[in-house]
Amino acid sequence: MTGGRNFSRAPRNAVGNTTVLMAALAVGSCWSGIVHGADPDSQIETLMARMTVEEKVGQLNLLNDELRPAKSSINPEANRRQAEELLKEIRAGRVGALFNGVGVAGGLRAQRAAVEESRLKIPLLFGADVIHGLRTVFPIPLAEAASFEPELAEKTARAAAVEATAVGVHWTFAPMVDVARDQRWGRVCEGAGEDVYLGKLFAAARVRGFQGTSLTAENALLATPKHFAAYGAVAAGLDYNSVDISEQSLREIHFPPFQAAFEAGALSTMSAFNDINGVPASASPYLMTQVLRGEWGFRGFVVSDYTADKELILHGYAQDDQDATRLAILAGVDMSMQSGLYSAHLAKLVGEGAVPTATLDAAVRRVLRVKKALGLFDNPYRSLDPARERRDVATPEHRRLAHAAALRSVVLLKNDKQVLPLPKTARIALIGPFGEDHANLHGPWTLFAEASEAISLQDGLARAAGGAATIETVKGSDIDAPLPGGIDAAVAAARSADVVLLAIGESERMSGEAQSRTEIVVPPAQQALAEAVAATGKPVVVLLRTGRALALHGAVRDASAILVAWFLGSETGSAVADVIFGDFNPSGRLPVSFPFESGQQPYYYNHKSTGRPYRAGGAKEYTARYRETGNNALYPFGHGIGYAAFQYGVTRLSDSNLPWNGEVTVAARITNTGRVDGEEVAQLYIHDRVASVTRPVRELKGFRKVRVPAGSSEEVTFKLTRQDLQFIGTDGQWRAEPGLFDIWIAPSSAAGDPVPLQLLPGS
Ligand code: BGC
Repeated sequence: MTGGRNFSRAPRNAVGNTTVLMAALAVGSCWSGIVHGADPDSQIETLMARMTVEEKVGQLNLLNDELRPAKSSINPEANRRQAEELLKEIRAGRVGALFNGVGVAGGLRAQRAAVEESRLKIPLLFGADVIHGLRTVFPIPLAEAASFEPELAEKTARAAAVEATAVGVHWTFAPMVDVARDQRWGRVCEGAGEDVYLGKLFAAARVRGFQGTSLTAENALLATPKHFAAYGAVAAGLDYNSVDISEQSLREIHFPPFQAAFEAGALSTMSAFNDINGVPASASPYLMTQVLRGEWGFRGFVVSDYTADKELILHGYAQDDQDATRLAILAGVDMSMQSGLYSAHLAKLVGEGAVPTATLDAAVRRVLRVKKALGLFDNPYRSLDPARERRDVATPEHRRLAHAAALRSVVLLKNDKQVLPLPKTARIALIGPFGEDHANLHGPWTLFAEASEAISLQDGLARAAGGAATIETVKGSDIDAPLPGGIDAAVAAARSADVVLLAIGESERMSGEAQSRTEIVVPPAQQALAEAVAATGKPVVVLLRTGRALALHGAVRDASAILVAWFLGSETGSAVADVIFGDFNPSGRLPVSFPFESGQQPYYYNHKSTGRPYRAGGAKEYTARYRETGNNALYPFGHGIGYAAFQYGVTRLSDSNLPWNGEVTVAARITNTGRVDGEEVAQLYIHDRVASVTRPVRELKGFRKVRVPAGSSEEVTFKLTRQDLQFIGTDGQWRAEPGLFDIWIAPSSAAGDPVPLQLLPGS
């Protein structure tokens, strides 16, 4: 126990007070009723009555799965043990869940120890970071967001769930729903990008996909929207850094994707590493008790991020391990990941009265209820079926889906003189460190896939061309350093080709956790390669591998065509080849703005106006711009082209007045003036001209992906109501205010002409 001042940060009754808890549980639920919040569950209550304090604490202890450890780890070493030792702890009821192990045999061993050899026979919960696929790897979540097809993400999450549950996983630490407005932050790749509306749709879709229609199904995977909260807002894009943020931004930008995920049925969440306004998220009663459970009625459980409870000490918020334990559980962290802190200190804290028994019990009940909701009490061996393990992993059907998802995730930024698509007879120089490479196809968050099973660019192109094209592959440069003689060989190959495919960008290790960058650029060695190759005068098509938006410079920016190929997963090469040869007409749009310069970060399209806004082509002096560049995007959020060409008619409103309780229809006609059929993403934006809180210059409120045959047109329509015009007021509540709004249907966040709409006052 530590000094009294701690109680001012996390009062004793913050969670332990049953009135607070019951009030939280009484809030209306949007879930299917699988987890019965306030109603005592007799099976769980009977169990609770039999549990010792130590056994209760055991249910809150999540440890790395040493029986079937992942080949690579993405976490620092902490509190590891041998497999036998872990089995002993399971038998003693001191472990409630394991993570990042896959395989039915190991899972059966661990589960048997829990349900056949422990006193109370409570099943283990198996978690894992299954972020965008297991053995079949789908595009990174950021790439999938570029599809602007949440239904696609739902399908890939479903397939990931089928594979994960076939190898003994019940629970994924996904989706990451952090809105990421600073591209220096390496974890941009794990989420849906910079926009809250897109983020909400993808968050909900992924939860639906992971969890399926019934949590008790063998192939349902419990989802964990993470990291609660505002982890994407870390200062300066530096991973783990502090967050200093207004209540308005929290509620308007960072909370909604979580709310959408919970409304879609997610029953766990992960407390973030960062502090928010001086309080670490993993010790924040405001986040986990007031907002999550109190306001939103969340009835699942909160797991800490990896050792995030122990890190309260280095944050300078907790005195020692015991204090950290107390602060985390009182704030509402139910389960401790890997630190072992709860295991070591919680029973004692409860014994001393520093943590109320009711707090411990509430946490245990939440965990047990979710185990029950997953059907583990009835069938502890669910998802541990050797036949399914053989049948449901890396299936041809999943591969086909990975291919479709990759196709729909690439974004064509430019295509001067229609250099693309290429004829299959072209003489191609495939230049750059990612031409033959297999090690950087999956992305930074794949723990359970084989790099050799993914299709490289070279293999994909060669297969698609079917021997007709000549493809000379030259590395030219390493990812981070020049290659002796590399540039000369690349230039020679470029000279004897019709076209250069320049496969450059970031390695897997340059994005992801702890991979913040100060300069979000193509690494200098590869930039030098690009300059040399471009100097040959041959058309250059950049195939940009990246986990974030980059500031493109020189020959890369000026290439004839730029295809953002992200990390596309198992089917990278085949999908890129289909786009390059025109077998697929690309339809992805940017979920993050590509700035001119790194120094513009954090940059996002839905920024405020300022009193001296900079307008591209307008005055430079005394405007909100940098000496070196204006403050707009080279390629804005929502931008992307294909091989067709689209023209937008004017945005039309069914009425220029929107009654307080009414709706208007917004419409525009989109004409495909190109020679091929294509898909267009028509985007609905609004801008509130005057409000009691300054509003962003634009906000996305809807989009439609429409297929328009060559030479035809399609009408796209949206309904707009007062709810679409709401924002968080100074009182922290959603509100709409009567007045004038600008409305666009446009091909990107920087295109189109708005029409005015008047929201009429209510009665
Ligand atoms: C990450 C989480 C991840 C956890 C478990 C942490 O470092 O922040 O996103 O789920 O590790 O691997």
